[in-house]
Amino acid sequence: MVQLIGFKKIKTAIFISGRGSNLKSLIKFSKTKSSPISIDLIISNNHNAKGLKYANIFKIKKKIFRFKDKTLAEKKILLEIRKYKINLICLAGFMEILSKKFIKNFKGKILNIHPSLLPKYKGLNTHQKAINNKESYSGCTVHFVNHKLDSGKIILQNKVKITKKDTPKSLAKKILVQEHKIYPKAILKVFNL
Ligand code: GRF
Repeated sequence: MVQLIGFKKIKTAIFISGRGSNLKSLIKFSKTKSSPISIDLIISNNHNAKGLKYANIFKIKKKIFRFKDKTLAEKKILLEIRKYKINLICLAGFMEILSKKFIKNFKGKILNIHPSLLPKYKGLNTHQKAINNKESYSGCTVHFVNHKLDSGKIILQNKVKITKKDTPKSLAKKILVQEHKIYPKAILKVFNL
């Protein structure tokens, strides 16, 4: 593993809307010596997001913005991002679609994790769709975010076998284990580590 001795870590913001298990795994990763990132900001569109507890546990700044007015919310987020000198954004279960303008501002610097083997099953209900289509495998993908939903360049994927017994819930559980593994690996890959 490469150790970034003498290098400044890349200040990263994680955007969440719910449980935050990927956030937790990224925080743990950020604290390892091999991590090129530090997590300096957590952004959410949801006051009740369970994952916000990790901001308190790990003493990370958190900011919550209502997306009723997306333009305004994004303006406010941009101010925070500048304030904390954020250079990488990781979407982790963030349930809002960011505007083209916002994405353009951070071209190549926004990553997302999606619970399917993209380009298959973009959007929601991926596990149900994979089961309905009698797929033998599903999985997860970390990709760059571009202006089209779940369509940016793929960075890393992990496969998971779908068995006859699988339900959307059991499949989601298996895939989540892989998600926690690939998001840190994808970040290392982005920085050629
Ligand atoms: C994950 O399955 C992720 O792939 C999807 O939303 C879910 C978020 O889970 N985009 P968590 O909040 O990280 O636990």
